[in-house]
Amino acid sequence: MVLCSNPSEQFKSYQSEIEDAVISVMRGNSYVLGEQVRYLEREFAEYIGTSSAIGVANGTDAIEIALRALNIGFGDEVITVSHTAVATIAAIEATGASAVLVDVDSKFYTLNPAHLQELLTKKTKAIIAVHLYGQAADLDPIITFCNSNKIYLIEDASQAHGAKYNNKRVGSIGDIGCFSCYPTKNLGAIGDAGLVTSNNHELASKIRMIREYGWQDRVSMQPGRNSRLDELQAAILRIKLRHLDKDNQKRRDIAEFYYEKLLELPILLPSIRSNAESVFHLFVIQVETRDSLLSFLKEDGIIAGIHYSLPVHMQPAYNDRVIKSEDMTVTENIVQKIISLPIYPELSKSDLNKIVNRIKRFFNL
Ligand SMILES: Cc1ncc(COP(=O)(O)O)c(C=O)c1O
Repeated sequence: MVLCSNPSEQFKSYQSEIEDAVISVMRGNSYVLGEQVRYLEREFAEYIGTSSAIGVANGTDAIEIALRALNIGFGDEVITVSHTAVATIAAIEATGASAVLVDVDSKFYTLNPAHLQELLTKKTKAIIAVHLYGQAADLDPIITFCNSNKIYLIEDASQAHGAKYNNKRVGSIGDIGCFSCYPTKNLGAIGDAGLVTSNNHELASKIRMIREYGWQDRVSMQPGRNSRLDELQAAILRIKLRHLDKDNQKRRDIAEFYYEKLLELPILLPSIRSNAESVFHLFVIQVETRDSLLSFLKEDGIIAGIHYSLPVHMQPAYNDRVIKSEDMTVTENIVQKIISLPIYPELSKSDLNKIVNRIKRFFNL
């Protein structure tokens, strides 16, 4: 069986390092928000290029806490895309704010800045730019829009640990960067984890307070919650962070192989911005006969994915509530055609050959 992503293969790559680190945490006397979290925060901030990083319980919390740190809540509006993990929108709603959903562009599948103006209201407080599939959203025009309208920019970099835009790592460009470290992510824990990044000391210390009851010296100075990161996950993430650039390069090599082998087929391959470096969290192609290709691959034990099969504004929990652009044509069209091919650092050459040969057979080649 070839899976779309396979975190247990990554565990095997670093098994002895991880097991040693886990045993050492268990034999210690600090299990939550201890020295492993502190080291991880320092190392991740240095890697991303921010003055601070704050460990939290998961990526959804990272976004919710980022919004709360910017005083965004009930009565406010936050613009983001519908073509994203539901988590992005769930996090907005958890603050009491309303999600305002905009279409993506047809080439890179990220927020289309051309539609921002029509969604702007007096209530708009922030934009969440989602760096989807490992590639940065088009931040330059989004930043110009944010600056001229005095609204905040949050980067949802959950699918793009290490990706670059104009030579800067994503998560270091907006006011706050948010990362999920769910096991399948480029930097994945063996459980839930998340990180928030910022170059603003005041915001960083507020985020640090909010993740633990709003505490400062164990006194709640503002409303907060529990979104602590544990030592086991932090220790594991520190190990994986050391290997992240190498693992991202392996993903790029796999992408290169797909580009080369699938070039002549009736498939739309992913486009990469000239000023961006993708970390290929996913390798998403478009095919007219998507469902039959998915089944054809599955018959041979190849499990491709769909990210995402239903835009958030069309999901039952959201369809009658979220505010959205009138025109969601691109989002609604691509979800019929996209397939995420298997991609992860440990994917073997023989599995890769099997995948491309099977796809070629599907097209009778
Ligand atoms: C774009 C995006 N945002 C947010 C999240 C939420 O992260 P988590 O599952 O860690 O809460 C994810 C993860 O699925 C994601 O892909």
